[in-house]
Amino acid sequence: MMPSFPVGFLLLLDVIALSLLAVALPPFAQPRRKGAVVAVAALVPLGALVTFVIAKGFHAVGVGRVAGATAWLSMTLVFLAGLFGLVGRALATLAALVKPVAKQEKPADPSRRRFLRAVPQGATALGAAVAAAGIATGQRAPQLRRVELFYPDLDPALEGFTILQFSDLHLGVSLGLDDLDAALLQAAAEKPDLVVITGDVVDDRPLFDRAIPKIAALAPPAGVFACLGNHEYLRRIGLDPAQWKRLGVTLLRDEATTIACGKGGRATLGIAGVDDPMELRSEPVQRGIAASLRRISKPASTFALLLSHRPEAFLVEGMRDYDLVLSGHTHGGQWGLFGRSLLDAVTGRAIHWGSYAKSVLVPGTTDGRTKRVQLFTTSGFGDWFPFRVACPRELPLLILRRG
Ligand SMILES: [Fe+2]
Repeated sequence: MMPSFPVGFLLLLDVIALSLLAVALPPFAQPRRKGAVVAVAALVPLGALVTFVIAKGFHAVGVGRVAGATAWLSMTLVFLAGLFGLVGRALATLAALVKPVAKQEKPADPSRRRFLRAVPQGATALGAAVAAAGIATGQRAPQLRRVELFYPDLDPALEGFTILQFSDLHLGVSLGLDDLDAALLQAAAEKPDLVVITGDVVDDRPLFDRAIPKIAALAPPAGVFACLGNHEYLRRIGLDPAQWKRLGVTLLRDEATTIACGKGGRATLGIAGVDDPMELRSEPVQRGIAASLRRISKPASTFALLLSHRPEAFLVEGMRDYDLVLSGHTHGGQWGLFGRSLLDAVTGRAIHWGSYAKSVLVPGTTDGRTKRVQLFTTSGFGDWFPFRVACPRELPLLILRRG
């Protein structure tokens, strides 16, 4: 069945995008021109048509992904060209206003006027280029990414221990089971010690029963564990731990377990999973995760792993009980900047893509001893909007190292 939620949202985006373009670009920038009104009036239904194609282009309904990508591209082109053009126009207007007083009495410099007129057009073209590049990257298959995480006091039995993390697959939107099969071929060759799933697995109900056994079939020695994401709640899919168990995966909803693993099974690994707080705003998300952590009894182990769909877990007090937090949800903002998520810069919170570390006081001690807690947030295996700039889809393989 075709997912219905994005249609209204995408239609709204179309209208916003077309309005932006109408304001940013001549001749639409001059509202008194009749042509502008006619052109916008013609573009809005065109946007609605694009929306319809996008909605139909979802992988789940079997419509070709080229058609879907083309539809995404046409809307993204309009949106980013309009947005960049608008910024260019604002900059050009500002530049014209800050002209030095002493020069104001001289006749206007025609080359300067031409340059200022060209700024919005250049910015619009840049926006269109970014849109095309982003949609092209958004079509690429997720790639295995090796990430080494160093701990000075790591249990020697866990040296080189590997954790494969599936997150935000969103199967049934822009990716399907064939994409999962291709990634599993890469993953099986790595022989991971442990596999974790950190939420948002499918957006199309029938795919759940087919996707989970495929991941479970990797059969890593330490097992396959999962926590829920917000899309499991949004779609009402896989909320029952028994459903996961039947398919070969242990779902942890505000609970923890301990397993013997590592070299010779000499290490004890604690794995906890927090339930998804089902909130959109940051503060309630953190409160929800903090409450989840209070409900979980800290696993007695030599290394403690926390699965939390939302990376906000790294910001709450209870994370001190763990050594590593594995998260997703953000998709890295799908826009990278110098190898980090653009969201880190925009929100001022360093949690959105990649590995982060901080030193915390060891719980239950009073002598000031500290330990390192790390967060790894993946940019995700998939997405519901296949547009990515310098932040590709990924399948992380985390490798624990002593050092
Ligand atoms: Fe999510």
